[in-house]
Amino acid sequence: MKPFIVVADGFDSDLFNTLQTMDEFTVHPKAKSSQGEIQELAPEIEGLVIRSATTVTPEFLARCPKLKYVIRAGEGTDNIDKAACRAKDVRVSNTPGANNNSAAEHAIALMMTTLRKTAAAHASMQAGKWEKAKFTGNELTHKTVGIVGFGRIGQIVAKRISGFEPQVLFYDPFVNRDQFPNYEKIDALAELFKRSDIITLHVPLIPATKNSINKALLSLMKPSAILVNCARGGIVNEDDLLATLKEQKIRGAAFDVFANEPLPTDSPLLTLENLVLTPHLGASTEEAQVRVGEMVIHQLKEFFVNKNLMNEVKA
Ligand code: MLT
Repeated sequence: MKPFIVVADGFDSDLFNTLQTMDEFTVHPKAKSSQGEIQELAPEIEGLVIRSATTVTPEFLARCPKLKYVIRAGEGTDNIDKAACRAKDVRVSNTPGANNNSAAEHAIALMMTTLRKTAAAHASMQAGKWEKAKFTGNELTHKTVGIVGFGRIGQIVAKRISGFEPQVLFYDPFVNRDQFPNYEKIDALAELFKRSDIITLHVPLIPATKNSINKALLSLMKPSAILVNCARGGIVNEDDLLATLKEQKIRGAAFDVFANEPLPTDSPLLTLENLVLTPHLGASTEEAQVRVGEMVIHQLKEFFVNKNLMNEVKA
């Protein structure tokens, strides 16, 4: 019997077509199954491919007696209960690196949008206005950029923005300062928050990072500074962010990720002029989705055919 694979949350269409023609698998003929459909298919699923919208919980696992393998088509695995998977002998992988360039570029795009107020200027022009004076912005050139989390994505951000000749500070207890002599490693997050003009977050959502960016840290930011979060919702305490932005304690922020996604339509975050919002688009480029899809297909084949588990994520 061929393993039954279900792809949730979207997939590059060419690669999905390729997957469907592969002799090794029986693939559910929909590249983006709804959460209701996934629940219905649960008893038969052996391999599940997800992005950020599907959560793998103990309750879901209880409905999946045949499930052997979950692939997170992306980086963050906070939507998968790894301990519950382990307890049921379900293996978990991600596709490390495949979308990192896109995530880094989106962070830089949000920095520029916030500094130059382009999103608000666009909305104003569409409303028939010509508000030149209102949208005076700021340059990125020669600013101090604080990168929180200096893994693959944080490092790409530093490299790509080098043309703006910034002073780059980074905070990452797991990265050795000698590895990056051109950047300044900061040992205390508070110092990075105090000194940076632009702060960009690139850490996973784990218990140690949940709500770690709170009022205490936000209150240390310069009034002229901006905060960008293309990492994960839940890292920044959204109540504290809301208060900080409402009281205009900082210049602005740009968020791609939220504690609850999709962001509820009555969220007060939607009412702020100094917050730019995008709907979790960091990895949403054609290039990233092709790379992610190729890795997913390769890893599925390795796991089910060659009994080789690649890029396992345990914790
Ligand atoms: C990631 O963690 O890599 C992103 O959330 C990817 C995605 O949007 O699926």
